[in-house]
Amino acid sequence: MVTGGCGFIGSNFIRHLLDEAGFAGRIVNVDKLTYAANPLSLADVAEKHGARYAFVRADIADRAAMARVFDEFAVDAVCHFAAESHVDRSIVRPDDFIHTNILGTYTLLQLARERMPRIQRFHHVSTDEVFGSLGAQGYFTETTAYSPNSPYSASKASSDHLVRAFHATYGLPVTVSNCSNNYGPLQFPEKLIPLIILNALEGKPLPVYGDGRQIRDWLYVSDHCTAVWRILQAGQDGATYNVGGRNELENLAVVNGICDLVDELAAPLPGRQARRELITFVKDRPGHDRRYAIDCTKIERELGWQPAETFATGLRRTVQWYLTNTTWVGQVRSGEYQRWIAAHYGA
Ligand code: NAD
Ligand code: TYD
Repeated sequence: MVTGGCGFIGSNFIRHLLDEAGFAGRIVNVDKLTYAANPLSLADVAEKHGARYAFVRADIADRAAMARVFDEFAVDAVCHFAAESHVDRSIVRPDDFIHTNILGTYTLLQLARERMPRIQRFHHVSTDEVFGSLGAQGYFTETTAYSPNSPYSASKASSDHLVRAFHATYGLPVTVSNCSNNYGPLQFPEKLIPLIILNALEGKPLPVYGDGRQIRDWLYVSDHCTAVWRILQAGQDGATYNVGGRNELENLAVVNGICDLVDELAAPLPGRQARRELITFVKDRPGHDRRYAIDCTKIERELGWQPAETFATGLRRTVQWYLTNTTWVGQVRSGEYQRWIAAHYGA
C-alpha cells in the first residue's frame, strides 16, 4: 500500500517502482485527493500496469475504509507518504495537518498492528523539518533532538514519535526517513521551485520571503524515491535514515538559478527583460526556519544509497519538465488551488 500516491513524491515513487525499479509485486494507492493531488499524474500508469496497480480514494484517518483496503488487497507493506505538506497552509489553518498527519498516521499504525505478522514493513516518510532550524554550522543527524517550529513540522514530528512508539511498544516493523526539500516533476506549484518557474515563465512577480538568505538542502525527487525503495528493501527494523542531497543553497540563489534557466529555455519577456528583475521581496514567513542541512552518511554507508542528480542537472530537468508539461500545469492551476488562494488571500 502506498498512501498519498497522487501527490508529488508518491506519484514519482509509484512510477519509479513500476517502471524502473524492477518491483514485482502489486501496489494499491490510497489517496483522499486533496487540492494537492492530481490523478492525471498517474493516468498512464493505471493504463499500462492495470493488473499490478489499483487506486482507492479514501481518507487515511477513516478507519473503516482503510481496514477494507488492508484486507481486500491483503496488504503486507505500507509506504506512507500521505500528508498535508505545505508549511504556509499549516500557518493559516493547521486543522487538516492535525487530522491527516497525526490522526491519519495513528489510524494506519493501529490497523497495521492489528494485522501483524502479515504486515512486514511500515515505512513512514518524514521530513528534516522536525529537527527545527540550524545556525550557520552543523548538520541534522539521526540523533538530533526534535525541535519543530511550524504546525506542519510539529504534526510530522508527532507522527514520527507515534511510529517509533508502535515499534518499541508493539514490535511493529517500521522504518522512518527524514528527507530534505524535494523538487522535480509533478510538484504542486505552491512550493518554492515550481511556483518560481511558472511565475518566471509568465513574467509575474517572484515572491522571496524576508531577505532570501534562508538555506535549504535540495534533493531531486527521483533520488528520494530510490532512497525510500532502498530502505524498504534493506532498511534495519526500527531504524531512521536521514536523506539529503548535499545541495545547500540560499533561496535567493535558487530563484536566480531558475530565472537564468527560464531566460535560456523559454521565450524572452517583452523588452527582453531579465527574469531576475521580477524578484520581489515580501513579508517573511512567521517562525521561518533559517537553515536545514542533512548529514546523510548513514544511508550512504549502511545501504549504499547515493543521489544521482546534482542541483544543476536536477534543476535543468525540472525547468524543462514544467515548460513541456503544459496540460498538467493547466489542470492543477485551474482547480481547488486557485479557489483556496482566493478564499485566503483574496487574489
Ligand atoms: P503532496 O502534498 O504533494 O501530496 C500529499 C498527498 O497526500 C496528496 O495526494 C493528498 O491528496 C494526499 N492526502 C492528504 N491528506 C490525505 C488523507 N487524509 N488521506 C489520504 N490521502 C491524503 O506532498 P509531497 O510533497 O508529495 O510529500 C509526501 C510526503 O513526503 C509527506 O509525508 C511529506 O511530509 C514528506 N516530505 C516531503 C518533502 C518535500 O519537499 N515535498 C520533503 C521531505 C518529506
Ligand atoms: P517551501 O517550498 O514552501 O518548502 P519548506 O517551507 O518546506 O522549506 O519553501 C522553501 C523555501 O523558500 C522556504 O525558506 C520558504 C521560501 N519561499 C519563498 O521565499 N517564497 C515563496 O513563495 C515560497 C513558497 C517559499
